[in-house]
Amino acid sequence: MGRRATAVLISGSGTNLQALLDAARAPDYPAAVRLVISNRPDAFGLERARRAGVPAVVVDHRAFETRADFEAAIEDELRLAGIELVCLAGFMRILSAEFCARWHNRALNIHPSLLPAYRGLHTHERALADGAAITGCTVHFVRPELDAGPILMQGVVPVLPGDDAEVLRRRVLEVEHLVYPRALALLAGGRVRVEGERVQLIDEQPGERLVLHPAFSAPPFTRSHRG
Ligand code: GRF
Repeated sequence: MGRRATAVLISGSGTNLQALLDAARAPDYPAAVRLVISNRPDAFGLERARRAGVPAVVVDHRAFETRADFEAAIEDELRLAGIELVCLAGFMRILSAEFCARWHNRALNIHPSLLPAYRGLHTHERALADGAAITGCTVHFVRPELDAGPILMQGVVPVLPGDDAEVLRRRVLEVEHLVYPRALALLAGGRVRVEGERVQLIDEQPGERLVLHPAFSAPPFTRSHRG
């Protein structure tokens, strides 16, 4: 099977896009990033795509009267590029039920929390306000409900004393960059089945859908209970 043609949809900095571009440089990676679409002309991710030699287009939502017209323009780009899989990576527009249906089980999103906790925005502020001891990120299939859909992979991140939202955001991003390429590799490699809105991997190994932030293997996480 050839590499699966993948589009990454962004709105901003595109560090997750970068992680996918970097992973896809490996010759045995089962997906190839063939197109980047941004709804914002100033998204730095467009520059990342250009540097990687990947076609990058702007589909500016402000240029369209309706969401249907905006999505039709995105669909045209996806079709022209022969796209099979879609990764949302910091794409800040809500997609219609029709779009989600067309890309059913072929579109992934990454969200900076351990879903189903903290759907929506300001996930790190909310985790800190709750005094959570762990947080993380989730790669899930796209459904019409915001930040919902079968969970493919999660990354777990400790909340450390003195963290503010910015520090926590950066720590979560580190694990996002590990999780998204692995999750896409599972999907593109044909390992993923969705049954009853739950993900099952073919020949799933224990822990295959879980990534621990590297902090978990460094002190103080390796100390015994006596300290
Ligand atoms: C990430 O935190 C992602 O989980 C969320 O938006 C952010 C995008 O960051 N959906 P980047 O543009 O990939 O750096």
